[in-house]
Amino acid sequence: MKPVTKSNIVADWIKEQIRAGKWAPGAKIPSQRVLADEFSVNRSTVIAALEQLKTDGIVEAVMGKGTIVANDTWSLLASLPRQKETHPLQSTESGIIDLSKGELAEDVFPDGYLNDVLGRLSGKIQSLGYEERGGYEPLREAVAGYMTRQGTPVSPSSILIVSGAMQGLQLIASGLLERGSSIYLEEPSYLYSIHTFQSLGMSLAGVEMDEEGLITSDLQAKWKTEQPGALYTIPCFHNPTGVMMSESRRKEILSFCAAHRLPIIEDDIYRELWLDSAPPPSLKSMDTHGNVLYIGSLSKTLSPGLRIGWIAGAEPVIERLSDLKMQADYGTSSLSQRVAAEWLGEGLYEHHLEYVRKALLKRRTSAQSSLERHLSDIAEWRIPNGGFFIWLRFKMDISIKDLYAEAVNEGILFHPGSIYTGGASRSIRLSYGYAGAAQFEEGIKRMKKWIIALAK
Ligand SMILES: Cc1ncc(COP(=O)(O)O)c(C=O)c1O
Repeated sequence: MKPVTKSNIVADWIKEQIRAGKWAPGAKIPSQRVLADEFSVNRSTVIAALEQLKTDGIVEAVMGKGTIVANDTWSLLASLPRQKETHPLQSTESGIIDLSKGELAEDVFPDGYLNDVLGRLSGKIQSLGYEERGGYEPLREAVAGYMTRQGTPVSPSSILIVSGAMQGLQLIASGLLERGSSIYLEEPSYLYSIHTFQSLGMSLAGVEMDEEGLITSDLQAKWKTEQPGALYTIPCFHNPTGVMMSESRRKEILSFCAAHRLPIIEDDIYRELWLDSAPPPSLKSMDTHGNVLYIGSLSKTLSPGLRIGWIAGAEPVIERLSDLKMQADYGTSSLSQRVAAEWLGEGLYEHHLEYVRKALLKRRTSAQSSLERHLSDIAEWRIPNGGFFIWLRFKMDISIKDLYAEAVNEGILFHPGSIYTGGASRSIRLSYGYAGAAQFEEGIKRMKKWIIALAK
């Protein structure tokens, strides 16, 4: 993912002129001054953009001519996005207020949390070979033990370790589901923002939600007997709405799916980030038909960079997915698996989670008061009982695209709601997990100005 910076915006614009054929190879790029005026940025921003394009082989400096379009089509092709960039944002420039990130900031974790575990491992690792098919055995045991303590009893042989929940979804999509089938899912949903299922020829069938989660009667209404694929759901602290599916809704969904033989993918990666009370039992733990494939991950609670997730399901299914995983990458990083096993093994993870919940609770409290202070007359939202997303809906008609452009230009990042739907949306997703309380307040305060100016 490319960070959104002013120089990237200029660089992207230049690339687009070249791609569209407006500037042929050898054509002169407008002067730094003209570009700086055009984008209302400093010359240094334009210079940074041109430097980046030079490094990428897209433009070159020629003595006496200035900067010209290079004759290197592969470089240009490689630099273009393959599909709609749905997660365009990442902040690396200082001063940027990032309300978009689906990741916890470092200060939500105890000091040195990772170092302690790495320290415990040092000296213990003799070699790092390929691991067993389903993953590093002690990690499978640790995950099974942890899930069982959490209320979803599973055995190590029904666990496959994957490189993050995202890979779990890819394996399920490519290995178990068929082209042309429909994936039922909450709308909005995280799944709209990645293209895993659509790129394999499946279509997404959005189902409405209320404060108890996916609405069963709407699932029934949307349900088509031909080519059913699966139901994908994020029942705990749903991304992007933060909604928790109630226990009664879970039962309804399970019985609908059992009756219609519709398999379920339960993406439960936010479960542990509860702040008020522990979530209802997982769909997997209530399922008596072997209908649920469960996905867990350490990305939201511990470290997205470890790339550790898992799928829990019936053994024959896990066997098949393990084969595919072997073909894809010969297994998740041995080192990451050992680190994860150390975390999950001795209850250290549960202890860590208590710390994270306390820190996240403080952030939620201050995010709530910032929103109430600045946006209560122009937007509505529901404060989630956990996780770190707030789905904010504007009361008036407003171009989210224009708001986004204003905000990016001023260094404030959020996710437009349309990323998470099949069409347009009047909502945006804010995260209080990454930006600190003061930054959150500042971001909201500054956004209010533009919202009012842009309201139709
Ligand atoms: C609902 C949901 N599922 C899966 C993922 C991907 O997680 P991982 O980092 O474990 O691949 C995300 C990340 O944002 C998510 O929100």
